[in-house]
Parts: sequence; C-alpha cells; structure tokens
Amino acid sequence: MLSAEQVAARVRELGAQIAHDYHGRKLVLVCVLKGSFIFMADLIRAIDGVPLRIEFLGVRSYGEGTQSTGVVQITHDLGRSVEDEDVLFVEDIVDTGLTIAHLLDLMRTRRPASVKVCALLHKPARRRIEVPIDYLGFTIEDKFVVGYGLDWGERYREVPYIAVVEHAELAH
Ligand code: IMP
Repeated sequence: MLSAEQVAARVRELGAQIAHDYHGRKLVLVCVLKGSFIFMADLIRAIDGVPLRIEFLGVRSYGEGTQSTGVVQITHDLGRSVEDEDVLFVEDIVDTGLTIAHLLDLMRTRRPASVKVCALLHKPARRRIEVPIDYLGFTIEDKFVVGYGLDWGERYREVPYIAVVEHAELAH
C-alpha cells in the first residue's frame, strides 16, 4: 500500500511540522506499544531542535483478535509523571478510534499541560468515535495492513513498508 520511501518522506514532514509547532517548548512523546515503536523511532529523529523525552504506554485491547471494544488494558504504564508537560501520543493507526479515545481520557487524569495525537495511519471508514488527530501520516481505505511495526497476530512487524493482508476478515 505504501512503500518504505513514501513512509519515510511523510515521517520527515510530520517531524518538521512537530518541530515547528513545538519550537521553544519541551515535549514528551508517548509511544503506544507495540505497533508504534518503529514509527516512534523514525519520528523522533525527524524532530529537530525540540528538547524531548520519550515514554512508552503498553496497551492491549480486550478480546484479542476481535474488533476493538475501546476497553484497553494497560500492560506498561508511563515511567514518569507528565504533569504540566506537553504530551504527544504516537500511534501507528487509528481504526475505530476507541483505543486513542480511551488513552486521551486516561492521559487527562495525569494533568499534562497539553495532549495531542500523531498517527501514521487513519481508517476513517471504521470510525466509531470522533477523535482529533493533530498530525496524520496517511488516510487509508478499509484494509487490514501490516508492516512498519504493525502486526497480524504478532507477525510482519519487521516488513519495512505498509502492506495489505489478504483475507483480512480473519484478523478482524
Ligand atoms: P482502534 O481502537 O479500533 O482505533 O484500534 C487501534 C489499534 O488496533 C491500533 O493501535 C492497532 O494496534 C490495531 N489495528 C487496527 N487496524 C489495524 C490494521 O489494519 N493492522 C494492524 N493493526 C491494526
């Protein structure tokens, strides 16, 4: 669906935009595990001149392999408080939107100065809740995709491009 070169070019643009918007501020990037780890690694190297730190939030949707319910289990929490800091969530894909909506609610209880969302991919066809995506890589059609950190039953994360899985109904 998207070549490694297309992804890399877009990630550089997102990084430049974030660097521009957060100029003169400090930033905490929160990587939503596991799918966002490769995106996060590339994105932080594209953000020039902004002092930043990184945190990881491990989440798992209840009922694995099925459609997102929006009830997410935290498997790894932030290592440090983000109170009064500018937080940017780094997400691989926003599908129904339920996961990131839940994480935004959770994050607000931690009292950061601001919270924004950066997602590499968005599948608007499956949206169930409206969530603001402040920085978006690509809008894609309703296909199950893998690669660049995204998996299908833990497989294909290492694929350097974004590919469509045939017979996607098996994964949903
Ligand atoms: P949401 O709660 O439906 O927005 O689900 C978001 C999460 O579901 C993402 O962070 C992914 O982990 C997973 N997901 C949704 N669509 C895909 C896909 O096409 N490929 C791989 N994972 C996906």
